[in-house]
Amino acid sequence: MTVNWKVSAVSPQPAELAEAARVLREGGVVAFPTETVYGLGADARQTDAVMKIFSAKGRPSDNPLIVHIANRSQIEELAAPPDEAVSRLLDAFWPGPLTVVLPVLPGALSQVVTAGLSTVGLRMPDHPVALQLLAAAGCPVAAPSANRSGRPSPTLAAHVLEDLGGRIDGIVDGGPTGVGLESTVVEYIPAAAGSGGGGVLHVLRPGGVTAAQLRRVLPEAEVREASAHHEPAQAPRAPGMKYTHYAPRGVMTLVQGDASERVLARLQRELDEAHARGERTGVLTYREHADALRADHVVACGSLGDLESVAHELYAALRGFDEAGVGFIVAEACPETGLGAAIMNRLRKAAGDRVIHV
Ligand code: TXA
Ligand code: MG
Repeated sequence: MTVNWKVSAVSPQPAELAEAARVLREGGVVAFPTETVYGLGADARQTDAVMKIFSAKGRPSDNPLIVHIANRSQIEELAAPPDEAVSRLLDAFWPGPLTVVLPVLPGALSQVVTAGLSTVGLRMPDHPVALQLLAAAGCPVAAPSANRSGRPSPTLAAHVLEDLGGRIDGIVDGGPTGVGLESTVVEYIPAAAGSGGGGVLHVLRPGGVTAAQLRRVLPEAEVREASAHHEPAQAPRAPGMKYTHYAPRGVMTLVQGDASERVLARLQRELDEAHARGERTGVLTYREHADALRADHVVACGSLGDLESVAHELYAALRGFDEAGVGFIVAEACPETGLGAAIMNRLRKAAGDRVIHV
């Protein structure tokens, strides 16, 4: 049975959080809201508890989990002390949608959390419910997004229950999440001693903090963005990036181009051909273009003039195609500036890398 604790997003009721925290301490798995997406948490020190996350999600166990903390001082119990450059990132973005990868202290966490790597991804979420739950639990909490593996991440408690109801011990329902996309995962490699230059900040997964924001805080470092199209040939550094993700059940294709008339014309041609084959069709577009397209299910996913609104609505839009029973989906690309880099990363994955360039 999955207990549902409904709490206020701004000032959550302490009794409900104490109950959820007790379940975590006793080795249970509990979903909770963060400012990015809902997470599925377990005490990161208890291997049995962490294993329940993998089995509830159906997640491959070579994909490490992010560890959530309520307080910056918890870092010292878990990982090597951050460099001065990483400290500046934490000053600027914590609490918030930034995960930093640091060398893990031996024995500090269950090995299942780190999937055997020598590093751990740490994050302090910017959400009163998450922060107060983590503080009440008093332990580091491993939490991937609270969806079945491969499905779009949950931005509402209803999404969590749709995927995991009956498979987890409880959910703290604090309403819709904020950003709507996961955190940015980064790893900082300092410059070699004596080289005089700045280090390299690898963006392992684009997310809620943009590359431009990172560059503003670390002007001397090289901020290296994950390849927009494909992971490098060697093993990907954020292991999760190699799996099919965020996908609706229907087959989705992304259409990308510089001229929006050409993109819209191609989207419509694909939709018309699928309709003629007898398929139920859907299109993901934006408020500016929704009236220009005809399909069984037209979704205006935020506004091109406001990419934050696109991020906020993206996962619910992808789930909406499943509810509408759509088998053939086309999606309009958005500009890859700012948050657009993370949005396009998720759209490409949802489309299983089927991209038409026009
Ligand atoms: O916003 C978020 O980050 C959400 C909320 C719940 O906090 N969590 C989340 O967790 O998205 P998850 O497990 O779905 O994604 C974790 C990502 C994966 O791409 C994983 O490979 C990468 O972070 N990651 C975790 N630990 C890592 C490590 N030690 N080194 C490199 N990548 C790591
Ligand atoms: Mg996830």
